[in-house]
Amino acid sequence: MCGIVGYVGSQQARDVVVEGLRRLEYRGYDSAGVALVADGRIAHDKRAGKLANLEKALDERALPAATTGIGHTRWATHGAPNDPNAHPHLGRHGRVALVHNGIIENFAALRAELEASGHELRSETDTEVAAHLLELEVERTGDLTTAMQVVCCRLEGAFTLVAVDSRDPDGVVAARRNSPLVVGIGQGENFLGSDVAAFIGHTREAMELDQDQVVTITADGVSVSGFDGAPAEGRRYHVDWDLTAAEKDGHDWFMRKEIFEQPRAVADSLLGRRTPEGLLQLDEMRLSDGDLRDIDKIIIIAAGTSFYAGMVAKYAIEHWTRIPVEVELASEFRYRDPILTRSTLVVAISQSGETADTLQAIRHARVQRSKVLAICNSNGSTIPRESDGVIYTHAGPEIGVASTKGYLTQLVACYLLALYLAQVKGTRFGDEIGQVIDQLEQMPDHIASVLAQSEEVYALAREHVETRSVLFLGRHAGYPVALEGALKLKEIAYLHAEGFAAGELKHGPIALIEEGLPVLCIVPPQGRDFLHDKMVSGIQEVRARGARTICLAEEGDESITPYADALVRLPQVPVLLQPLVAVVPLQLFACELATLLGHDV
Ligand code: BG6
Repeated sequence: MCGIVGYVGSQQARDVVVEGLRRLEYRGYDSAGVALVADGRIAHDKRAGKLANLEKALDERALPAATTGIGHTRWATHGAPNDPNAHPHLGRHGRVALVHNGIIENFAALRAELEASGHELRSETDTEVAAHLLELEVERTGDLTTAMQVVCCRLEGAFTLVAVDSRDPDGVVAARRNSPLVVGIGQGENFLGSDVAAFIGHTREAMELDQDQVVTITADGVSVSGFDGAPAEGRRYHVDWDLTAAEKDGHDWFMRKEIFEQPRAVADSLLGRRTPEGLLQLDEMRLSDGDLRDIDKIIIIAAGTSFYAGMVAKYAIEHWTRIPVEVELASEFRYRDPILTRSTLVVAISQSGETADTLQAIRHARVQRSKVLAICNSNGSTIPRESDGVIYTHAGPEIGVASTKGYLTQLVACYLLALYLAQVKGTRFGDEIGQVIDQLEQMPDHIASVLAQSEEVYALAREHVETRSVLFLGRHAGYPVALEGALKLKEIAYLHAEGFAAGELKHGPIALIEEGLPVLCIVPPQGRDFLHDKMVSGIQEVRARGARTICLAEEGDESITPYADALVRLPQVPVLLQPLVAVVPLQLFACELATLLGHDV
């Protein structure tokens, strides 16, 4: 994933583009570059490393004034993160500059073709191939929009491309296939971005594009066409959050800011879900109650943290509705031969709504005529647009790469879906459903009470800066929480971490336990004795082998005290809802440990 910005207007393009890149730095941060159209030439610079390296270079070597430009922050796919591989890439004669997000799958064949006709490529990237092809077409047709349409028809894979032509200082041309691109509509200026964060400081009016479309922006206009050249329309919308949501608000990292936003995000995701009669309503769902009544199997597909939200959903949906649920990684689902029928509901969970594997998986499901419901945080993104229905979470923009508030609000959406299915299918009484919604409505306060213990969790992190490995144990709905806790440590603290179902421990993983190894244990609420007691005996077992046990247990659970080397208290909540509070200390722990280890969270 990379960040892309384009601008045409009356401001200095360098400033607007760099500001946009700063807001998109979460999308890619191993190199950055800009290209401006000035005096009939492309002026450009690109640097390996963080955006600050590029900014320093631009300060030392002022680029000419220009009001049209493009920029890019990269997360390397083809070629190492060095200066030559950074974007923008130029065509053979330096007339066209291009930035790209995605992967051009047939780039090797195209590269061979270019090299055979004498082109020398300076980088190892797939992008440079597209830049050369684009320039050839611009030289042939004299028009960047037409050239983009022609070149896109030759490319396979997923891509957003944004380009400028040195002979046309008034326009920027972009294209998308299976990769995000949004237009920002200003007054006498227009913008392009991988997402609205790129231009939210300038305008909240946006336009989304369909697959396989080309868009040309000038200071005064936006025109859209298909790759085949046929005129098309984008869909305009108003962005309902503003610049403050895209800033760190006094926190050191977006991740930490977003962890602390969770009470609000969960509360917002619950707003407006009940009718005056007390029934559950899911407005944007678009699937009729008749459709839902026919569902006899649910397959949840997702990636990363969203997949772990799906695992929690399985426990809730099966318990409340008795509909069998499978949870599968999107990257596996799309390449096997899953059994889907018209009465299968496929639920795609994706914070961004753009994850390529999840998108391909829902397309696969729709071809088999299954109904697809998206659970998504990004309004207007591709996955909900290509689904039959959607439940939007209301986390606000999630800029931290490691999902936190996105995850909690996905859990809320999953609970709501489960309860709604129970309501429609009549598998639970209305008052029972109402009671769970009441409990959900108390969750923002419960999450806030866990956040109030952040200093204790940070102290635990300080005690573990020398640790090379951490294990997480959970049972029932606590098992996915253990997996999520481990993922967070891997993803941002670069530590070896594993999550296990506590009952599986004896079947091998217990061999990993050695003296002093930290094991974080998510203890189920005491109400469910069989789960709780089994967990407690698992904790005794690892402790007997020398593990250092850090237990997350509910207030008042004294049975755990003798076996806990450290204890974090959780509010008393039902076992199915416990992930909403249990994951929070694990997020704080990972964020703090990563910070102490000097990593860029
Ligand atoms: C990963 C992120 O790249 O994508 C995870 O680091 C996230 O935090 C995963 O859970 C899936 O993303 P999405 O947008 O489909 O939920």
